[in-house]
Amino acid sequence: MSIRPILIHPDPRLKKLCAPVGTVTSEIGKLAEDMLETMYDAPGVGLAAPQVGVLTRLFVMDCVKEEGEPPRPMVLINPEIVATSEEKNTYEEGCLSIPEQYAEVTRPKRVTMRWLGLDGKVQEEEFDGLWATCAQHELDHLNGKLFIDHLGAIKRSMITRKMVKLKREKARG
Ligand code: NI
Repeated sequence: MSIRPILIHPDPRLKKLCAPVGTVTSEIGKLAEDMLETMYDAPGVGLAAPQVGVLTRLFVMDCVKEEGEPPRPMVLINPEIVATSEEKNTYEEGCLSIPEQYAEVTRPKRVTMRWLGLDGKVQEEEFDGLWATCAQHELDHLNGKLFIDHLGAIKRSMITRKMVKLKREKARG
């Protein structure tokens, strides 16, 4: 396993529609393992393939936050939403590609997703609360959408300007 560098917004690769996985190969397995390690190291609760520069429909997540509760690393390949609740939920979201910026985003409180597991088998589950928010946030990434795209234009451009500045400072070293 290895930690992969996470792309920072703005980056054209974060705005792309990602391609579905055809067959779940060992290369996909390696990518998922690396992404989980990268996510836990960051640390974060979710990470999508485009964030490590791979334009493929795959994300990982683990929203377990109770101390002492065992981790639940999940890998979702070709995920799709099959149902959403009428009820909405607002969470303060952040993103590993937009470090240290947070904003409230309202999304359906519960979402049922269907995806392929690493064994190539179809899985389906209803997510609630933080899990539902995270799953929707990560699915957005696969469609080139960031959480700041849910905000107003002024707030979005303010955050983007901060990220441009951060990247410039990082490049300077
Ligand atoms: Ni994100």
